[in-house]
Amino acid sequence: QHCFTKSTDGFLYCEGLKVQDVMESVDRRPFYLYSKPQITRNVEAYRDALEGLRSIIGYAIKANNNLKILEHLRQLGCGAVLVSGNELRLALRAGFDPTRCIFNGNGKLFEDLVLAAQEGKRINVLLRINPDVDPQVHPYVATGNKNSKFGIRNEKLQWFLDVVKEHPNELKLVGAHCHLGSTITKVDIFRDAAALMVNYIDEIRAQGFEVDYLNIGGGLGIDYYHSGAVLPSPRDLIDTVRGTVLSRDLNLIIEPGRSLIANTCCFVNRVTGVKTNGTKNFIVIDGSMAELIRPSLYGAYQHIELVSPAPADAEISTFDVVGPVCESADFLGKDRELPTPAKGDGLIVHDAGAYCMSMASTYNLKMRPPEFWIEEGGSVAKIRHGETFEDHIRFFDGL
Ligand code: LLP
Repeated sequence: QHCFTKSTDGFLYCEGLKVQDVMESVDRRPFYLYSKPQITRNVEAYRDALEGLRSIIGYAIKANNNLKILEHLRQLGCGAVLVSGNELRLALRAGFDPTRCIFNGNGKLFEDLVLAAQEGKRINVLLRINPDVDPQVHPYVATGNKNSKFGIRNEKLQWFLDVVKEHPNELKLVGAHCHLGSTITKVDIFRDAAALMVNYIDEIRAQGFEVDYLNIGGGLGIDYYHSGAVLPSPRDLIDTVRGTVLSRDLNLIIEPGRSLIANTCCFVNRVTGVKTNGTKNFIVIDGSMAELIRPSLYGAYQHIELVSPAPADAEISTFDVVGPVCESADFLGKDRELPTPAKGDGLIVHDAGAYCMSMASTYNLKMRPPEFWIEEGGSVAKIRHGETFEDHIRFFDGL
């Protein structure tokens, strides 16, 4: 269920507020606009799905590292999944319980491992196994297939088990982990992976390790197309692995990023012009690949809508929606059927809560935008300042 919906009056609403009104009350554009209640609802969907299992929801901070959002997720009972020393520092700053933080990813820096080790005493480790399951997603976001850089393959497993055995006072092997990829839309993939993973757990237990955790990773996709297609829910995901997890009396860890945060936000832009070159029509907006790179980087589709109803006589055409950045890769959408907007009209890119702000850059010195959320009572609050030119100049102070 989407918190940003077009009402019968043709205006786009979020939690009872007209996005048009929010846009007019905000001092800078483009900007990211979140629904705080939607974040809560997304966590509740996972919590409900996990009932009857011992579990940890480890929110993958890389998807969105806004400190206010992290604090909210922590208050809702989430743990955190981190991939760098700085993500660990941020998680601690947001108040996450270190015993519910998981540090993973390949190519860890020694100094970051030292930092993580200081948080625990004897270090609980999970072995990240590469189960060779094809997640059927864009190659850039597939991680659990055998030629990917992630995890340990079968033939290396024993070597790692032996290392753990040699360091009983420093390391405690507590479980096995896999992460298959991102934007996964078939839960069978998780079922197959869970079946393979418990076989590994059987093998590991047979060597005398008391492993108790299966971490099945993140990766559940969302309905970016708004096509009405029914995609698997958190419940569908958990239900496909539940029996396997219970059969071995395991504690389940999941690491959702996108499915917790993507649909809670839209990226709000203004139209700066409309033009036609050759056979192409363009809507030019103030946002760009600098603030939201997923379409340029992965050819990802994110749904685009105007925030206000078009005049009855507005012509519907096929447009590429582009920004002001000096690259032809700078597009937010291609071949979109939209009413011809007027200069100044609001245009939003949906599902911008995950891997949008966290992957934003300052290319062309387009400084990272501010973030706002709509709270339970319907008030709008700033949850991150927009970056300024002065922030950029500060990097050169005192050189
Ligand atoms: N756990 C691990 C070990 C991961 O590597 C990731 C994401 C997650 C959990 C969370 O996955 P999620 O539930 O969000 O799919 N920038 C790309 C996505 C990269 C995902 C990287 N790993 C995008 O914008 O689509």
